[in-house]
Amino acid sequence: MNNFTYSYPVKVCFGDGVAKDSLKAELQKYGKNILFAYGGGAIKRVGIYDEIIAVLNECGKVVTEFSGIMSNPTYTKVQEGARLAKDNKVDFILAVGGGSVIDCCKIVSAQAKLDQDIWDFEYQQHGLPTEYIPMGAVVSAFGTGAEMNNGAVITNEVLKQKSPLWGAFYDFAVLDVGYTMTMPQKQVISGSFDTLSHCMETYFGSPRETNLSDEINEAVMRNVIKNMRATLKNPDEKFVRSELIWAAAMGENGILKLGKVTDFQCHMLEHQLGAYTDCNHGFGLAVIHPVLYRHIYKSAVSQFAKFAVNVWGVKPDGKTEDEVAIEGINALADFIKEMGLPTTFSEMGITDTDWKSIADSTIITGGCCKKLTKEELLNILIECK
Ligand code: NZQ
Ligand code: ZN
Repeated sequence: MNNFTYSYPVKVCFGDGVAKDSLKAELQKYGKNILFAYGGGAIKRVGIYDEIIAVLNECGKVVTEFSGIMSNPTYTKVQEGARLAKDNKVDFILAVGGGSVIDCCKIVSAQAKLDQDIWDFEYQQHGLPTEYIPMGAVVSAFGTGAEMNNGAVITNEVLKQKSPLWGAFYDFAVLDVGYTMTMPQKQVISGSFDTLSHCMETYFGSPRETNLSDEINEAVMRNVIKNMRATLKNPDEKFVRSELIWAAAMGENGILKLGKVTDFQCHMLEHQLGAYTDCNHGFGLAVIHPVLYRHIYKSAVSQFAKFAVNVWGVKPDGKTEDEVAIEGINALADFIKEMGLPTTFSEMGITDTDWKSIADSTIITGGCCKKLTKEELLNILIECK
């Protein structure tokens, strides 16, 4: 393992029906002026909005609403939120939604305390924000684990770049199983595949010798696969849902990443696909993963073989390491089909876009077992069509 320092700032309130009481207990620690942030209206349709407004009123808060945060949140939306937070002298941000709302607010919280443009500050001056408006997250759509970390993925429409920005950690995250039961099945599966992707992107980072982080990771991956199968059969089963929600949090709370440099090359490519097509994140990952892995597995063949045996139950006897590794990637591809996830970009409705610009603008990661060239990324994209 590489050396590490571990400390974790997010208080997690987990369970079925925990939202109301957890919010009452947590919100009293903060000032009166609350920015209540949410997405396109799903939480209003399913009753979450009413329940949270009632808690905020009961706690005597003054509420400013920041609504309409879209999937793949834009930098313009971040600036709108930061202006609202400043103009209304907001003491605390309450983000209620999926990864998009939760990410957007991380940067709103930092931008509202920063006098300069945060994109320039982070990308041109290589600065990291140090002041934030404190925040709490209520996860109404799970999968990204965004509530557990301080990275946000924001689409800069002018630069055509969907990239990470660093913001604040949430002071607390409420993972109320009941709140997620109204999620469309498509989002449950896409979000859970995102969780599996985070685990794989961590597992295939370096170093790739067997260590405790990887062994815990294998258990989380097996659990996600098992529970994705179960949720497909029984979408209303709360125990299965609770397992998937906690697995998503485990993927991004830092535990699996201890002592490792993560890979995340698949994510970087998918994010740029998102910048050009505004596609669903989990769907994009499902298409790219098997194609990318067939391109790179020879650079980490032992780790891919271990993944095949320990995660997918491939029998290694009488086979070469190469054959075992490929069987694991095939098992992943079969699973993607079994889950009804897309296997090509055209199944996602993406038939034509600027493939070369996507490849050229993709960040190349240091943790990937093979340092890919722009040409290789373009070939992978073409193969995914
Ligand atoms: O927009 P509304 O109307 O609110 O509907 C939402 C949205 O359509 C809906 N929804 C939320 N709660 C619901 C519900 N529908 C019914 N019942 C409920 N209780 O679900 C959808 C959620 O959309 P979104 O937040 O976009 O999905 P997801 O959670 O998959 O987040 C995707 C974003 O997270 C980023 C992705 O790049 C993408 O921008 N990621 C963030 C990460 C991080 N910070 O760690 C890691 C990931 O790798 C990912 O990149
Ligand atoms: Zn992801």
